[in-house]
Amino acid sequence: MVVMGVVASAPAKVILFGEHFVVYGEPAIVIAIDKRAYAKAQTRNDKNLHLRSLNLNLAGYFENGTFKIEQGELKEAKSKFEPAKLAVEKVLEIYGENVGLDIEINSTVPVAAGLGSSAAVVAAVTTSVGALLNVKMSKEDIFRITCEAEKIVHGTPSGIDPAISIFGGTLLFQMDTGFKPLEVKMDIPLIIGDTGVERSTRVQVEKVRDINERYPRVVEPIMRAAREIVLKAMEALKENSLETLGDLMNINHALLYGVGVSDESLEWLINAARKAGALGAKLTGAGGGGCMMALARNERVQEVVEAIQRAEGKPFVAKKTDEGVKIERT
Ligand code: MEV
Repeated sequence: MVVMGVVASAPAKVILFGEHFVVYGEPAIVIAIDKRAYAKAQTRNDKNLHLRSLNLNLAGYFENGTFKIEQGELKEAKSKFEPAKLAVEKVLEIYGENVGLDIEINSTVPVAAGLGSSAAVVAAVTTSVGALLNVKMSKEDIFRITCEAEKIVHGTPSGIDPAISIFGGTLLFQMDTGFKPLEVKMDIPLIIGDTGVERSTRVQVEKVRDINERYPRVVEPIMRAAREIVLKAMEALKENSLETLGDLMNINHALLYGVGVSDESLEWLINAARKAGALGAKLTGAGGGGCMMALARNERVQEVVEAIQRAEGKPFVAKKTDEGVKIERT
């Protein structure tokens, strides 16, 4: 018998409005995009957990808790695989038995770039292992497991990345009240520009924490403004107002710049996009490098793409997807 394994996939995301402030309980709007992470799970004859990332060129395995390298640099591979390992352990805990597994990851999502690649990978791994072992897990279970694994990577994440990669679509996300799907009928032509500068979400979140601790009375109105942006954006999404969404992106970016999470590489691409006729542009995700996004009318999209390219960013046009985590093949 040929064992094919179970393949699952989960989407990347862009935060339209509200990153960072969401960690302090403010609302945010996030959409799933058509770039996905894939994970294939197969059982093994031993009890080891083998992990391979095709896109990162890393491979290794955990044998009785000790990590052994097969491809790439040991420290890097161990830290990149740690969240997936934790997720697999959680699924095995529910399954009630220890089995050996081969996990192969292949992701089209730029890494450490603000597009939620780590959450998408963990969501896909959790789902593929669960399906392989016939473990009954709801999307909420997968969400909880992915959130726990994300803590290893991001420290104190809000949970917005796991939520969108699992549920897909467009979400209004808030830590205390949870998240709710938003029905967005309008086309939102988004151009993403990757600065190519890899950075850590944990470090960017700590930057904001530090500035908030030092200047709480200055940062508080910034948070309030971020909340108003999200509320106004909800209206704009209902009214199909691209222009308002563009304005709000520019204001949102100014707030993020104010709390210290933009950088030269982002400013460069954001300015290039605005000059090329984007209605608005902002960083997306944690900032400090990573990706920016621009909103443009359809007839201006190509010009914005070219401007980002000339400014030495890597552009792509992002399409919204309703599909969250899913089984691709059993
Ligand atoms: C990261 O995609 C978004 C942040 O707001 C962190 C988080 O919400 O966990 C920067």
